[in-house]
Amino acid sequence: MVDYEVTVYTGDRVHATTINPVHIKLVGTEGESARTWLRSLVIFRGAVATYTVSCPKSLGQLVLIELDKRQFFILPGDAWFPDKVEIISPEKTIYTFPIHCWICDSETHRYREGKALRIFDESNSLGQYARQQELSQRSVDYAWEFYGPGMPDTIKADGAMTLPDEVQFSFTKTTEFAFTAATGLVELQLKGLVDNQENWKDLDDINDVFRNKGTPLSDYVQEHWTEDWLFAYQFLNGVNPTLIQRCKTLPGKFPVTDDMVFIPDGSNLSNELKKGNIYLCDYKNLDGIPANTVQEKQQYLTAPLVLLHKRPDDKLMPIAIQLKQTPSKDNPIFLPTDSEYDWLTAKIFVRSADFSEHQLNAHLLRTHLLAEVFAVSLLRNLPMVHPIYKLLIPHTRYTLQINELARVRLIGPAGVFTLIAASGGESLSKILARSLSSITYRSLCIPDNIDDRDLQDLPNFYYRDDGLQLWNIIFEYVQRVIKYYYKSNDEVQRDSELQTWIGDIFKHGFLSQLQTGIPQNFTTVSELIKFATMVMFTCSCQHAAVNSGQYDYGGWMPNFPTTLQRAPPTKKGTTSKSTILETLPPINVTAQGMATVWLLSRQSSDFVPLGHYLEYHYTEKTLRQLQKDFKSDLDKLSITINNRNKGLEIPYTYLDPKNVENSVAI
Ligand code: FE2
Repeated sequence: MVDYEVTVYTGDRVHATTINPVHIKLVGTEGESARTWLRSLVIFRGAVATYTVSCPKSLGQLVLIELDKRQFFILPGDAWFPDKVEIISPEKTIYTFPIHCWICDSETHRYREGKALRIFDESNSLGQYARQQELSQRSVDYAWEFYGPGMPDTIKADGAMTLPDEVQFSFTKTTEFAFTAATGLVELQLKGLVDNQENWKDLDDINDVFRNKGTPLSDYVQEHWTEDWLFAYQFLNGVNPTLIQRCKTLPGKFPVTDDMVFIPDGSNLSNELKKGNIYLCDYKNLDGIPANTVQEKQQYLTAPLVLLHKRPDDKLMPIAIQLKQTPSKDNPIFLPTDSEYDWLTAKIFVRSADFSEHQLNAHLLRTHLLAEVFAVSLLRNLPMVHPIYKLLIPHTRYTLQINELARVRLIGPAGVFTLIAASGGESLSKILARSLSSITYRSLCIPDNIDDRDLQDLPNFYYRDDGLQLWNIIFEYVQRVIKYYYKSNDEVQRDSELQTWIGDIFKHGFLSQLQTGIPQNFTTVSELIKFATMVMFTCSCQHAAVNSGQYDYGGWMPNFPTTLQRAPPTKKGTTSKSTILETLPPINVTAQGMATVWLLSRQSSDFVPLGHYLEYHYTEKTLRQLQKDFKSDLDKLSITINNRNKGLEIPYTYLDPKNVENSVAI
């Protein structure tokens, strides 16, 4: 007889303990062990326990293990969270089997040894068989579902609770999420705000909603929201830094003339355009979208154009706003020299358009829905033992579940967004489809995106500065990992699983639209490196940039109204303080909007920052070192960002690596 020393590591997390009997079978190139009971009455959370599995002879090289946990007699079934199993063979070889997922059922689960293997590295028929079996099961567990015309496909599920255990929220996250959602709404109910459909009588009354829930920045925004510089600043470092672009020639649809706008220091608009000091935000994506009705009342959504000037003191200031795309007498160009309320009204319409453009295009589509496409295609096409699965799986944590919840609670027919946003309901699918048809691969890669928007030298643009540094750090890490496994373009081309993975993304995420520039296959190592960098950046950094500041900038409703209830002015001189109060959303819509952005900006206590790998998918030493180097580069960037922020009136913290979550999880 020979003995195998089997050490089982159980995750230290709530509910990870099991009282059910657990069995293991070792499978090697020369045979397999008997199904052997791990002799423990209870396997506690955080436990590291060693057992012996005896076999008549050596099993050769270990390829996989089988684990099962069965409900015993009258004892209830439970959930168990093994992290990994380490085995020392009679030949003293150490094998590690990463697991990192819940086992809740009584099925037999197979786990491969940790060394990453591409499909053509599988020399053993058992390994090949296990690989095929795993992918065929995953293609059932993670099936695609048509979501709507022109929109990316999603995971097929009957609600968040039916998703496979391995992609569900942890107990901590579930409880906290329900608790924070409930406390916010209970508080509003107590104040009688949820049913109050009246308009605000005074903006100061809005203070009563969430009196104690302000962040330093949301308080600051409340104080300064009417000021032009803060309006402009948000195009750079607010929640939607994705729209602004340099403008060298004015579009014909926005006929601003030299004599309309005041440019200091004797210059004029034509000169400033030539000098590259003029910038444009164009909400054309929203043009012609019929607005939602809220509480049976027609709402208004515009597709504004905003012109901005970079002054000699490097401050960016708005100089003209046109609220609709087609110039006409009924579509005045508003200017800072107009009456206080005309100019403020124009800015409020822009901020409300930005709410819709931000939530649906920048946030929902370009981070949440794409992250889901990346997650589903990864789970369907790459087995756990694949090097790219190990690279990307930590960046898919909780994404499927948060998106399922969002589809029901936020954007579904009875969801908050449908009830309170000008772009809710039918408008939502139209905007999403239009956004997807205009998406490009270059726009998802921040270096290309900044070049295409010609924003390389715009001062005080911290989203760009921090985003580019993060991209470079991620790129460096991804490059080292991928070059460790792929030594030539030929190896990339021969990896049929990788090719199916990218093909699935092109088809189900980008609806096979060639103009997106999304690759349909990988021919070179460099293409693979760039694509994997984009996936990691999108799921972590880009989501943090557009998600984390939602309460900072939306906590004071007039700065980010979810909807507006009066049509945009068609003439100058028709606005007043009271028309603004009639335009802004009523009390209950405001309260629900603020509660939602508050919930979506909360950081969960089991938040995992970018580059922190709690799970040991890679077992090779070189890879573990690359992960350490990656984290150390991120730590250095965090210090640099912190030092920079000390000198800023508004610190830009969303892309500080400490605040960036590894995945789209909220
Ligand atoms: Fe989000």
